[in-house]
Amino acid sequence: MKGLILSGGKGTRLYPLTYTSAKQLIPVANKPVLFRVIEAIRDAGISDIGIVVGDTAEEIKRAVGPGKQWDVNITYIPQDAPLGLAHAVKISRDFLGDDHFVMFLGDNVIQGGISSLIAQFASSSYNSQIVLTQVEQPQQYGVAQLDDQGQIIKLIEKPKEPPSNLALVGIYMFDAHIFEAVNAIKPSWRGELEITDAIQWLVDRGHNVHAYIHRGWWIDTGKPTDMLEANSRVLEELKPTIEGYVDRDSEVDSRVTVEAGAEIINSVVRGPAIIGKDTRIVNAYVGPFTSIYHHCLVENAEISRSIVLEHSQIRNINRRIEDSLIGRHVVVHRSPIRPRAYKFTLGDHSQLGLLGDESS
Ligand code: TTP
Repeated sequence: MKGLILSGGKGTRLYPLTYTSAKQLIPVANKPVLFRVIEAIRDAGISDIGIVVGDTAEEIKRAVGPGKQWDVNITYIPQDAPLGLAHAVKISRDFLGDDHFVMFLGDNVIQGGISSLIAQFASSSYNSQIVLTQVEQPQQYGVAQLDDQGQIIKLIEKPKEPPSNLALVGIYMFDAHIFEAVNAIKPSWRGELEITDAIQWLVDRGHNVHAYIHRGWWIDTGKPTDMLEANSRVLEELKPTIEGYVDRDSEVDSRVTVEAGAEIINSVVRGPAIIGKDTRIVNAYVGPFTSIYHHCLVENAEISRSIVLEHSQIRNINRRIEDSLIGRHVVVHRSPIRPRAYKFTLGDHSQLGLLGDESS
């Protein structure tokens, strides 16, 4: 079996962060989402992995390389434009050959990995297996209508009146019949070759498409709030380790990971949280569900339920930063400019001056 990861696309919903970089490389709990996807596929016993790449191809190749660090072989498959998930399958034909494969969206995070899903598909006679999970707002997803036996009747993209609350998770398994489907379907109203149309094509022709119901959490990290949610979920499950330095005046609870070279000085860190390599936390408070990536500085400041990317600095801020996604090389520091409310989605290399107390 082979793996196919979709890592093209534009990531418009994560602008401005993704103006300058690939959304799949944004870390949750200090590890890029794409790396988590590669690990999930590798852990399911698959070592031949294709990655579909678009405008951000060079950045992704630089970060992932040939796959040695995961003991897998990676083949890059360029996609000229993000013309749809089924289009990505179509252009991957040479790489996939006639093998069974799992397609995994490079910006999705799923609890518990995919080993059992893959094992079930590999030992079955299914032509395809899709993964469904219950969601609160099915209108925002591809939704499945099942019959009493759990057989798929219909798949509908973002239905106004959803026939169920079962959304399609971004993990799909196929045999070579999918190529007939992607070659037969036509682009949708939004100009994309939709994978839901291709799967519907298989269902309509009597191919055996099985619906697997996933019971854990699953997050499609399309928007900043999804990134923060994924970060919280993964942090909750992270096994904490302290490899960096924590001084005697600091209070770091048992659910905190401090990576090598990090320093916690006269600070309080409440888990679940992670402090990245060579990052310094000085006279600061880092609250639950926060990931500070490598080479950052948080000094005289408070932050919680946030993600801070590498080489960023937060200094001398006298109000707590919450629910924020802060890019690379960002500097947030005190300055005498109004207004007073803080809530950020900051792009890479942003600089933000914050209001200080009149008294200070
Ligand atoms: P989407 O989230 O559907 O699209 P996007 O990345 O362009 O994001 P946005 O809607 O914010 O602009 O894509 C899901 C995943 O599949 C993501 O990792 C990008 C990838 N993808 C491709 O590789 N090729 C494609 O043609 C499309 C549509 C997506």
